[in-house]
Amino acid sequence: MQRKIMISLAAIVLLAVFACIFLVGQMIHRGFSTREQPGVVESSLATAMRDAAISARYKTMKNPVAVTPEAIQEGMDHWADHCATCHANNGSGDTMYGRTMYPRPPDMRQNDTQRKSDGELYWTIKNGVRLSGMPAFGAPGDDDMDSWKLVAFIRHLPSLSQSEEQGMEKMNPKSPQEMEEEQEEENFLNGSATRSQSQPTHHHGKETP
Ligand code: HEC
Repeated sequence: MQRKIMISLAAIVLLAVFACIFLVGQMIHRGFSTREQPGVVESSLATAMRDAAISARYKTMKNPVAVTPEAIQEGMDHWADHCATCHANNGSGDTMYGRTMYPRPPDMRQNDTQRKSDGELYWTIKNGVRLSGMPAFGAPGDDDMDSWKLVAFIRHLPSLSQSEEQGMEKMNPKSPQEMEEEQEEENFLNGSATRSQSQPTHHHGKETP
């Protein structure tokens, strides 16, 4: 009897060791690339852990900010400036960074995000998501109205209009070069096209008059 138990135990340990070797082998074989999509086991385990880590107090919390057009607008501006790099203006996550991060930012217009409670979304914005690219925003504390306005805007994502989306593009962060180009363009359109005349050129030597 004792021997039988010992043999079964040894078999289980051996199986576990083989399973580990197999999994580690697969990870090394695939590399740690962020191009892959997480598998079902990995994403359901990670999602369950994320879920369990948000306290019940937040899960039932409702947005204390009245969802007025002004609140949504403020959330929208904030989103365009701080969140759209990864999440895109329309929340699809289809951006240069979003497409190749691991895990990918979800399409926040879809049910998976929209059925989360206000408090869960708020908690995620404030605390970030460990082992993912999602940063923690705002100082710790419960009265961060900016984050609640972002929650209001996330609720508005599924009905975001095309003109709203275009308006957001002006708020998206720009590189100094893009800003310079835009300024030049504006100057040009305003008729003060002084582009190359007043500015030093990178190749020395005099400009021909
Ligand atoms: C550097 C990239 C990056 C930036 C910037 C970023 N996020 Fe995220 N965000 C992510 C990623 C990646 C996830 C997915 C995490 C996961 O799968 O667990 C995520 C997830 C979320 C979620 C959870 C969605 C869900 O369905 O569970 C919310 C809410 C969120 N982000 C809000 C924001 C807000 C608001 C901002 C701006 C203030 C922001 N994020 C900025 C990368 C980013």
